[in-house]
Amino acid sequence: MKCNRRMFLSGLFASFLASRRGLAQEGASAEPKLFTRSPSDYDPNLVVLFSDTHCSPTKSHDQSRNLRSFIAEVLRLNPLPAQAVLFGDFAYHFGLPEDYRYAAQLVKPLTDAGVKLTIGMGNHDRREEFLEVFPDFAKSTKVPGRIVSIVETPHADLILLDSLQQGVDKNKWITPGELNEEQRAWLTETLRAYRKPVFVGAHHPVQELKIEKLLFDSPMAAGYIHGHNHQWKRLWMEQGWKYKRVFRTLGLPSTSHWGDIGYSLFRLSPQAATVTLRQIDFYYPKPVPTQERPADWDVHVAENNGQTCTFQLPQRAAVAASSEF
Ligand SMILES: [Fe+2]
Repeated sequence: MKCNRRMFLSGLFASFLASRRGLAQEGASAEPKLFTRSPSDYDPNLVVLFSDTHCSPTKSHDQSRNLRSFIAEVLRLNPLPAQAVLFGDFAYHFGLPEDYRYAAQLVKPLTDAGVKLTIGMGNHDRREEFLEVFPDFAKSTKVPGRIVSIVETPHADLILLDSLQQGVDKNKWITPGELNEEQRAWLTETLRAYRKPVFVGAHHPVQELKIEKLLFDSPMAAGYIHGHNHQWKRLWMEQGWKYKRVFRTLGLPSTSHWGDIGYSLFRLSPQAATVTLRQIDFYYPKPVPTQERPADWDVHVAENNGQTCTFQLPQRAAVAASSEF
């Protein structure tokens, strides 16, 4: 077979990609990295959103395979997202130390590539065990005793709250979420002082945190994003017939546990932020052999994949003019 110029160049490109993938895997085993990146390799206005990874070294139906492939997919983006956010249920069911050690290996290619990762707590996480493996979150938290972060981007920030209710018995989980008083007070003061568009997020849906009024009362609040339902779920809240302002909320898919299976890309501009869904599968309560697969599972995937949810960002000037703070 003749080898023309195009075939030669595509061969070269394939070997470059293969060598880059090999080096990324090498990075996962803490080998020295051979590639250095520059700031232009990252898009500060692009954030990848993961949720409900339910990582476990032993109990999984291809959970790790999906997360690995999503991360590999993200690492092929050019430029790379500057940040990634994981909306809780990082661990399988009971926040075991081995779950977090395993999860740390799974996300290592992402952080090795220089993508900053922020992780929140879900009802299947346990703070102490998580902090054993990710101790930096104990130093960076905005609220002592909880794991609360602010993800900063040029046009809007994201406050990631800790909605985990952790009981005494670590072998049981408490499904509903809550916001403790310290977080509620901190959030109220923080939103009052915010002069930049800001999203609020947590593992649980907004109704479980009981912060709907606070969000409506915060002019710079742009939207609410959560996990927990394993469902791509675009909703809006209203505050009564007298008010025009509605507030968008978005539920994210799980990377692999059950329900909508995928991840999302959050792209921000001065005017708006658009979340785009990448969905590869649907199953409930778990995957089944192809011949037993209900037809509507594929309908969910076909309908959902590629959907977007756009949040208009509150404009600084308009808010400054009407601000009474
Ligand atoms: Fe979950």
